[in-house]
Amino acid sequence: MIPESFIEEVLSRTDIVQVIGRYVKLQHKGANWMACCPFHKEKTPSFSVNPARQFFKCFGCGEKGTAITFLMKYKGLTFPEAIKELADNLGMEVPEDPSAKVREAAARTLTDYLAQAAAFYHENLFRDRGTIEYLKGRGITEATARKFQLGFSPDAWQGLEKVFPGQSYFDSKLEESGLVIAKEDGHRYDRFRNRVMYPIRNPRGQVIGFGARTMVPGEEPKYLNSPETPVYHKSRELYGLYEGRDAIHKKGRAIVCEGYMDVIQMSQAGFEETVAALGTSITPEHVKKLFQLSDNVYFSFDGDAAGFKAARRAMESTLSTIMDTQTAHFVILPQDEDPDSLIKKQGAQAFEAQLSASFPLSKFFVMDIVREVTAGRGLRTAEERAQAVSIAKPLLQRMTAQALRQLLVQEFAAAVRMDPGELAALCGVTLVKETSRSLTQSTTAGYGRDVNQKERFKRPLKPVTTGPVFANIKRRLLQCLLVHPQWLVKYSDRIEDELLDTVDEYEEAIVKLWHLATDHVHKTADDKGEHLTTGYLLSFLQNDPLYEKLVELVDQEATLETSADVAEYEIKCAFLKLEKARLDAMIMELLAMEERGEPVDSEFIGRLFKRRQLIHQSLVQESTEAVDRIMDSVLS
Ligand code: CTP
Ligand code: MN
Repeated sequence: MIPESFIEEVLSRTDIVQVIGRYVKLQHKGANWMACCPFHKEKTPSFSVNPARQFFKCFGCGEKGTAITFLMKYKGLTFPEAIKELADNLGMEVPEDPSAKVREAAARTLTDYLAQAAAFYHENLFRDRGTIEYLKGRGITEATARKFQLGFSPDAWQGLEKVFPGQSYFDSKLEESGLVIAKEDGHRYDRFRNRVMYPIRNPRGQVIGFGARTMVPGEEPKYLNSPETPVYHKSRELYGLYEGRDAIHKKGRAIVCEGYMDVIQMSQAGFEETVAALGTSITPEHVKKLFQLSDNVYFSFDGDAAGFKAARRAMESTLSTIMDTQTAHFVILPQDEDPDSLIKKQGAQAFEAQLSASFPLSKFFVMDIVREVTAGRGLRTAEERAQAVSIAKPLLQRMTAQALRQLLVQEFAAAVRMDPGELAALCGVTLVKETSRSLTQSTTAGYGRDVNQKERFKRPLKPVTTGPVFANIKRRLLQCLLVHPQWLVKYSDRIEDELLDTVDEYEEAIVKLWHLATDHVHKTADDKGEHLTTGYLLSFLQNDPLYEKLVELVDQEATLETSADVAEYEIKCAFLKLEKARLDAMIMELLAMEERGEPVDSEFIGRLFKRRQLIHQSLVQESTEAVDRIMDSVLS
């Protein structure tokens, strides 16, 4: 865990223009910086970075976010990794708790060992005729061998002693790295001997493990892989991701194959955007990683039983991960072909044709389940259709993408000749009639303000600030506060007065932002919040369910471009409208009490009426002065 205070410090010192400028050539255009978008292909720049807001946005493809989101999307980093990179840029060192520090130091030595071994194997490659011939025979060029740092592990029991001489060969870290195997009697030997070595790198480019293929026909196992180690988790890592990351961005798609040689051959044939899971099926973590880099993922599987099984697992992992804005496609290759063999026999166009003919997730979903039930005959009986439904049920249930699920249900319903509504009910999923979640549920929350210390008044309920009109007011209030965060500080009291018992998402979001802003003020000398930026606030809400909504609001402002003083005026009006609604509720409550014969302070009611009237007038007049006057005064 990185301490919050450190994250805050890093974020407040980070400049998004510098961060993105490291990867993209930015040009000054007015208040913003522009570039050709790194997330899609384009010739004229539509990618814009706004330094005041610390936010980027592409008007072409719609990608948008903060410095952190940029690093996560562009480089495929996790949140902590992105923070680390930002800290590195600032010359700051991430303080970690001691155990994490030890872990990191340990991990570093493992990757150091692995890097040294990779360099050694790679050098050996150019000295070993046999390996050179083998790779040539498989159509691999020298440039490709260098790009993937392919190597050769010598045919010797302690070949690595050349790199780790004497006592260092007995370092327990070397065993932990998976490079040597230690016997109980203390005897040690190299795990990889006489094999072609494929180093596996993480997104940072560090070597974390190896795949090793025999060149001896018939020798088992064909591939020997590194064991799981503290730095290598095969359920997470993808072979070729480091090498292919830029191409994934440029082409806007990722291709997933089954093997090492497929990735290498594909890359050489121009499909540099190819990766593979290694000696394991595709996990949701893999899919998540890929969708972080691109919204379009193609899975390619061999047309045999093993290939179908792998495709099913990939589909399952995709269903639980995919979002409505993303697409997944499935390529099923002809029997006995893999991408490597197909490209060698028929060239790159043959594979491109396979991609064009691939099945989108919705089609593959139906096809694969029907294939499982009927072995390709097609559904014939009611029993077969029922069986298909029972297979589909848990798969549909794990989906979070609502629109996509709806389409899947419709496609599947047609295949099993059912009504979509009935199918949805059978599968325990709801068909959405209106897609957007209602923001205006009439929740009633207790009204938390102590009315002028007059405790004998019951606290009025607050149903008045729900409903579509108020949703619009609050949505706009949130938007103005989000893009001009200094007003979060200036109108802090108002937020406390009007919004603390949150009744909807907008209020919740405003309160969250308000907490972040006040924390910032407490921890820095920035009393007026002059250094608060939108991007800074958003970075803290990265994993918040509200995050996407907030990003949308900022995004919309890229077109609206509300200036700070106009935003301030709108903020004041919004608060006045909320206050007016609160006064209404209080007046109603008091009048009801009076009607029931309970004691009420009628002079107090009079003052409520008076203030309500003043607010109303100032809002009707739409004059800045009138609004200012009433904002500056309080209920007397
Ligand atoms: N694999 C493995 N261990 C094995 C066999 C296979 O880890 N004993 C993994 C490797 O990642 C391999 C992938 O499964 O790349 C696909 O296996 P296979 O189709 O047998 O190999 P190919 O990739 O076709 O390898 P090659 O073309 O070199 O024969
Ligand atoms: Mn192969």
